[in-house]
Amino acid sequence: MPNRARYGTPGQMQLNTIILGAGAAGMMCAAHAGPGTLVLDHARAPGEKIRISGGGRCNFTNMYAEPENFLSQNPHFCKSALARYTQWDFIDLMNRHHIAWHEKTLGQLFCNGSAKQVISMLLSEMERAGATLWLSTTLKDLSHADGRFSLTVEREGRTEHLSARNLVLATGGKSIPKMGATGLAYDIARQFGLGVTETRAGLVPFTFPESRFAPLAGLSLPARLSNARATFDEALLFTHRGLSGPAVLQLSSYWREGEEIAIDLAPDQDLFAALRDQRQAAGRRDLTTELARHLPARLVEFLAPQLGLKGRLADQSDSALRALAETLRDWRLTPSGTEGYRTAEVTLGGIDTDMLDSRTLRSKSQPGLYAIGEAVDVTGWLGGYNFQWAWSSGHAAGTAI
Ligand code: FDA
Repeated sequence: MPNRARYGTPGQMQLNTIILGAGAAGMMCAAHAGPGTLVLDHARAPGEKIRISGGGRCNFTNMYAEPENFLSQNPHFCKSALARYTQWDFIDLMNRHHIAWHEKTLGQLFCNGSAKQVISMLLSEMERAGATLWLSTTLKDLSHADGRFSLTVEREGRTEHLSARNLVLATGGKSIPKMGATGLAYDIARQFGLGVTETRAGLVPFTFPESRFAPLAGLSLPARLSNARATFDEALLFTHRGLSGPAVLQLSSYWREGEEIAIDLAPDQDLFAALRDQRQAAGRRDLTTELARHLPARLVEFLAPQLGLKGRLADQSDSALRALAETLRDWRLTPSGTEGYRTAEVTLGGIDTDMLDSRTLRSKSQPGLYAIGEAVDVTGWLGGYNFQWAWSSGHAAGTAI
């Protein structure tokens, strides 16, 4: 149990540190914050996003994590925390807890067993550090005076009054409200004079009007997606509502409403040369039959009427084949929007890094206030980067407290 009051108002529990949010960052912070730490969460279980992440296997970090894999108004901000608690430190923690893992692709590391092992590991690290966890707890009131934060919370039908020198905002972003995501960290940041940058859904599928790609739903292929800011070579997935898959989720974080995206459907092929060579070798073959040797047949069938694909290879001029190859390698589409916070894996933007010390994640203006994890304006790519930011920022604040 946390230290009971020796001073303060009657009935007020005196603590060193209160961490709001028992997610990835909050639990990591609690494991390092020292005695007198209480973690509060309104959910019934800790680390719910860890539990469902990576299809239940948690893509817990990325071997190639670098500051370049993170988006923020200040791209330098994440460097210090990432350098002082790296992916190798977290891998070492996993190994010490005998949790088996493997690399899936592109440096993405997953548990061999279950994501629940990561939650159990963090809970045991918290216990070792002497931290206390209160679940199903709702914050009712928060103020700061005489160097301490005073909180009124409701738990198990009772009202509790708490006081702590340090308050850590670790309640994450707005993604997936159904899982209990709220904007609490942003509200508290504003209450204490910290800025909050514009927030948007990130790592999220694109939508298109009139179920445009419904006939292709479920089809996946390797593609190169790009816009003016970024390019990603990963799988593209057609869905009933639009486009998804890793390449789309990645690009969505760099996309703005109304912007066009470019899709290269044959990124590693010289499509023009291949079609021209086959015209020589098999001129009687239908153009669509030949294309289906390079692209999924369903996609060719879908595109044929739009692109006027008909006739035999022998009927196609060089310029027609070149134009076709260029169209397929630079397919321009304008999404009508994204699926929004309902399905977004992360929230872009958040608590302004200008107001935080990058080494400790401590507020520059409000003594004792810290902000970590997804609540802060640092957002990683798809592939284990967001958990790495949660571990690194949680560690930075925890060790600074
Ligand atoms: P996180 O969201 O984990 O925790 C916040 C905590 O605060 C929660 O426990 C919540 O209940 C609590 N809280 C919120 N509002 C509160 C309130 N008002 N009062 C009290 N408590 C409150 N990343 C990655 O690297 N690899 C992956 O495999 C995946 N997979 C993935 C799948 C899905 C479906 C989603 C939605 C997200 C991912 N992510 C991911 C992203 C990753 O889950 C996310 O970036 C981290 O969990 C962020 O950690 P935080 O601790 O900052 O927030």
